[in-house]
Amino acid sequence: MIRKVLRVIFSAYLSFSLGLLCVPCCDIPSIATYFGTKGRYEEVNTYLINDKLAVNETLIRGASSTCSAVHLTAVIRHGTRYPTTKNVKKMKDFYNLVQSNASDWSHKLDLSQWKMWYTEDMDGRLVEKGREDHTNLAKRLAKYFPTLITEDNLRNGRVKFITSSKHRCVNSTISFKTGLIEYFGIEGEEFDHEVNDALMRFFAECARFVAEVENNKHALVEVDLFNDRPEMKRTAEKMADRLQVPYSQVTADSVEAALYFCAYEFAIKSINTPWCQLFDEVDAKVMEYATDLKQYWKRSYGHDINSKSSCALFHDLFRRLDQAANDHRSGHVSEAVTIQVGHAETLLPLLTLLGLFKDNEPLTSTNFATQTERVFRSGHIVPYAGNLVVVLYNCADGFRLEARLNEQPLVLPKMNTDLPLFDDVKRNYAELLQGCNPKTECELVNVQPRTMD
Ligand SMILES: *[C@@H]1O[C@H](CO)[C@@H](O)[C@H](O)[C@H]1NC(C)=O
Ligand SMILES: *[C@@H]1O[C@H](CO)[C@@H](O)[C@H](O)[C@H]1NC(C)=O
Ligand SMILES: *[C@@H]1O[C@H](CO)[C@@H](O)[C@H](O)[C@H]1NC(C)=O
Repeated sequence: MIRKVLRVIFSAYLSFSLGLLCVPCCDIPSIATYFGTKGRYEEVNTYLINDKLAVNETLIRGASSTCSAVHLTAVIRHGTRYPTTKNVKKMKDFYNLVQSNASDWSHKLDLSQWKMWYTEDMDGRLVEKGREDHTNLAKRLAKYFPTLITEDNLRNGRVKFITSSKHRCVNSTISFKTGLIEYFGIEGEEFDHEVNDALMRFFAECARFVAEVENNKHALVEVDLFNDRPEMKRTAEKMADRLQVPYSQVTADSVEAALYFCAYEFAIKSINTPWCQLFDEVDAKVMEYATDLKQYWKRSYGHDINSKSSCALFHDLFRRLDQAANDHRSGHVSEAVTIQVGHAETLLPLLTLLGLFKDNEPLTSTNFATQTERVFRSGHIVPYAGNLVVVLYNCADGFRLEARLNEQPLVLPKMNTDLPLFDDVKRNYAELLQGCNPKTECELVNVQPRTMD
């Protein structure tokens, strides 16, 4: 009898503690902060892990006697998504290698139970977690800016939504709207959005960027060189040792694919998979550097055209701010809020044009060791749903501007405050405001035909 009672208590205890183990939030891979652009937003703002709607009270901008909020523009990356077709292919190749030649390892870690579920038709689509990223961000932004993101502004067309045509962006935009609809309790309402690739996918329409960077293998030579460096070679060898396969079988693509398994299982399903055990912290830092190096040369300071390709979006932002300032002077702001949804490739060039996250030394294949304290860390800048929010205020001494990246205050270059005068900001960017013509910047200059040698 007693034994029976004990058994019942014990099994109740067991299922209780197993239940706790299964709470999806808590088992975070130790390398989760090194996933770069495949990283969760929660790794940047860890307080969101326990409360998805938590806001930092000190950053709420309610009614104030000194400044009133006039306009807000947010440029937001789409939420968590499936891997792209190209990356699923890499993952399949690596999975086949592990299945056929690393069976000891996969048995030891119980990966033999793990089924390959990624398919090429997933094609970078938004996942459920990606919808939540945006509905929750919408609700938090509404809490932060209660005088701008209002039901009245929403109902009266003063909140504008603009998105890239990519399905993951359109669905992110829809999710953001759902977040506001739920926040204000106005279910049944519908709000339009505009698809605008000239603004949100400017990189695809900038001929010079496409020719000189996107389709030019030489533009990313530092990335290739890094793959041949001892740091990367060592990472691949350590992985081959762990898998017990010959070094020749683990390529740079395999290492990348292994990291995708770890990163995607976590981002999509909140699971810390055995795949993550193929990396220690040093390996993960090397992989993060490889990602950052690619972003640096393809989307950021590596080539001047990378940031210049965003001139149209830059001008669009300042035009909206100027318009809002003028409207405010004449007593009626017609667009209080602009929500723009795009890609990491949308945000990084714009942030670069604004002069943000610039290290003294460029990122190259040879300076991994001296760049450990770099500010250019793509996982901190553009995780899923990463966002730049720019807010115009009318203050006693004129218009002022506040910028936030991922809900944290951002000090613009050469400004010594996080609420500088709008005129000072414009003076700082005068050269770009007077130039940075998308047409001339993106024009393909006729290059001399190469001589054959
Ligand atoms: C909240 O914001 C303030 C001001 O930027 C900052 O000092 C503080 O660390 C933030 N708190 C959290 C929990 O992030
Ligand atoms: C497994 O190893 C064999 C022999 O080394 C090799 O030919 C084969 O390509 C490997 N399999 C995969 C899927 O890489
Ligand atoms: C977008 O969302 C809709 C409805 O939520 C869904 O049916 C559709 O498959 C999604 N599309 C993509 C590409 O994720």
